[in-house]
Amino acid sequence: MNRPIPELHTQRLRLRAWRDEDLPIFAAMSADAEMNRYLLGPLTRQQSDALVARFIEHFQREGFGMWAVEAPSVAGFIGAVGLSVPRYAAPFTPCVEVGWRIAPEHWGKGFATEAAQAALAFGFKELELPEIVALTVPENARSRAVMVKLGMLRTAADDFDHPLVPAAHPLQRHVLYRLSKEDWERAQRLASPGSQS
Ligand SMILES: CC(C)(COP(=O)(O)OP(=O)(O)OC[C@H]1O[C@@H](n2cnc3c(N)ncnc32)[C@H](O)[C@@H]1OP(=O)(O)O)[C@@H](O)C(=O)NCCC(=O)NCCS
Repeated sequence: MNRPIPELHTQRLRLRAWRDEDLPIFAAMSADAEMNRYLLGPLTRQQSDALVARFIEHFQREGFGMWAVEAPSVAGFIGAVGLSVPRYAAPFTPCVEVGWRIAPEHWGKGFATEAAQAALAFGFKELELPEIVALTVPENARSRAVMVKLGMLRTAADDFDHPLVPAAHPLQRHVLYRLSKEDWERAQRLASPGSQS
């Protein structure tokens, strides 16, 4: 039996289960050159649909995953944000990673950060994870800005060569950002001193 996919809400966003009508929009994003500047794309429609199928399988296996993101006052689908368990081995695995892909026409409005904050809250409060990581190539300034805004910290000693990127490929080197449950809870208390969470 399929596990129900938890739905998360923020001020402007809804992180929800995937729908068939999201697939062509996600495929257009996955084929876009700007979107893929720091990813191993572009993806064909078939590869994009297969990636969404893996996101959905991940929810069934783990109870969490990469949600479809809706911005009700803006668009029915703006991208994918969520938590995943990398299936490769690296010095920081096993772990849970927070990740994001927002359609370029919606960049720069704080949507990735807002959706990721909801995913982190789910990871720390509901899943009680001790730590969540994020990773990208050093040149991906937008993605790194999101990690910093989320309160994540990078240590140069954690930099690594991504095992799924071919050796000597320009995107092989990665930076790793970490956020512990303890530091996340401390930041929550500072943001709203009266709250018990
Ligand atoms: C990374 C990504 C998800 C960010 O989405 P977004 O909704 O625009 O993110 P936000 O608006 O929450 O934050 C973006 C931050 O980057 C900053 N930024 C924008 N352009 C920048 C640039 N050229 N250099 C540095 N920072 C930049 C913004 O100013 C903003 O930070 P601020 O709020 O402090 O000003 C989006 O660009 C994307 O989908 N990229 C392609 C896929 C990808 O690379 N995913 C990450 C793989 S690890």
